[in-house]
Amino acid sequence: MNTRQDYIAVLDSGLGGLSVLRHLRRLLPGERFIYYGDSANAPYGTRSRQEVESLTLQAAAQLMERGIKALVVACNTATSAAIEPLRRKYPDLIVVGIEPALKLAADRFPGGGIGVMATPVTLREEKFCRLLSRYEGSCRVYQIPAPQLVPLIEQGLVDTPLMEQTLHGLLDPYADKIDALVLGCTHYPFASHAMERLLGPKVAVLDGGDGTARETRHRLEAANLLENGPGELILENSLGTQEILRRSRRMLGLE
Ligand code: DGL
Repeated sequence: MNTRQDYIAVLDSGLGGLSVLRHLRRLLPGERFIYYGDSANAPYGTRSRQEVESLTLQAAAQLMERGIKALVVACNTATSAAIEPLRRKYPDLIVVGIEPALKLAADRFPGGGIGVMATPVTLREEKFCRLLSRYEGSCRVYQIPAPQLVPLIEQGLVDTPLMEQTLHGLLDPYADKIDALVLGCTHYPFASHAMERLLGPKVAVLDGGDGTARETRHRLEAANLLENGPGELILENSLGTQEILRRSRRMLGLE
């Protein structure tokens, strides 16, 4: 029997969270997902913390009305600004966030150089500062703010000379210094092939999407809320155009 509490909601400022949804669907094929991208208000990463918190709470409130058993905040920026207010507001809901996979990189490359690419909000918020203070003694961490990638990915301009040129500008100064590049924004995995080409095989490009999907499965399992049905996917976007939904499906490999 389906109840109103069936869905896992996945939320992002736009299309980036689709990179996390790919992992979630692979790991939990029997679940029902609602993906909500707030592309009308993207990017979040250059806004104030208060704005990001309020947009995230607004989107979450809409999703709550649909009857959801879990909320995955598939956005590092929204997680930094709003995960605690969300958990306070919905104490009975499973709320899973995402943060830059610095632990993964530091464990794999002790003493190494690690680039963390993320939005300005993520890099300046307290959540990341705490994470950084845990690892900066054991490795060299280079912070790389990259808000300019988000509009390119939102517009589907991934395999373009403009993307190549933007990545060169961002990464060339670090290419010889890093062993790993952590993608601390869920939009960036869509440009990971171009980054790998540019950095070469000696630099590992890592992101937290898989870890977030595993954490979601673990939390659902612990609450006895796993479902093994036929699976379902509802894609929604605040832009409300067919074009953005088509682009979302393409990014998920569905078209
Ligand atoms: N996808 C979001 C993240 O993971 C940020 C994109 C934006 O700036 O809106 O940080």
